[in-house]
Amino acid sequence: MTTPNPYRTTESQPPSATTPSTAQDHIATILSQNASWAQYTYSTDPTLFPSLSAGQSPKILWIGCCDSRVPETTILGLKPGDVFVHRNIANIVSPTDLNALSAIEYAVVYLKVERIYLCGHTSCGGVVAALANKKLGKIDTWLVPLRQLRMKHAAELEGLGDAEKGKKLVELNVAHGVEMLRQNADVLQAVEERGLTVHGLVYNLQSGRLYTVDVDEERHVHEKRKEAFEVSG
Ligand code: CO
Repeated sequence: MTTPNPYRTTESQPPSATTPSTAQDHIATILSQNASWAQYTYSTDPTLFPSLSAGQSPKILWIGCCDSRVPETTILGLKPGDVFVHRNIANIVSPTDLNALSAIEYAVVYLKVERIYLCGHTSCGGVVAALANKKLGKIDTWLVPLRQLRMKHAAELEGLGDAEKGKKLVELNVAHGVEMLRQNADVLQAVEERGLTVHGLVYNLQSGRLYTVDVDEERHVHEKRKEAFEVSG
């Protein structure tokens, strides 16, 4: 049995790639669904929109994959205003990605989030692509860090079936991304000064459940990282 979507009006249908309709029909449908959602949300919490229009103070920075099946606010059971978000294909954290760096800086330095969650997911198309050798285009350049991980951990990946291999590379990518985040100067400073924490997660598409990737470390590892990456002034 499926639960009825409270946001959906009876006179409108959700936009669908398989429903033949014009762009105008799609726009009308989107606007209608949005109106229903806004009305429903307001009826359940009349203070939400006025409070969000005054400003945001999310506690979480979420870095995840673009994948349509992993909508962070929904799967966390949270609301607009709860999660500051950066998503890219295969949730890759590269130290020179200006887009990610800007999102991290804004979240950590200005919004002062308390936690960063880096989340990968099972059946990630980017990971599958990085485990194959088919030329796709610009995305191949984006996926270079995943191929580097594939090469570095070739011995661990060898002998695993396709699904297990994919899951392993998803987890390795999350663990590596957490390390990249911890080396970020803004993150490093916030960890030191106010106890910001960075966590690794994987979302299982089959169950809808999250699990943690172990990224705990001993204090001396943090100290060594600090020596190499801390900048100030
Ligand atoms: Co993905």
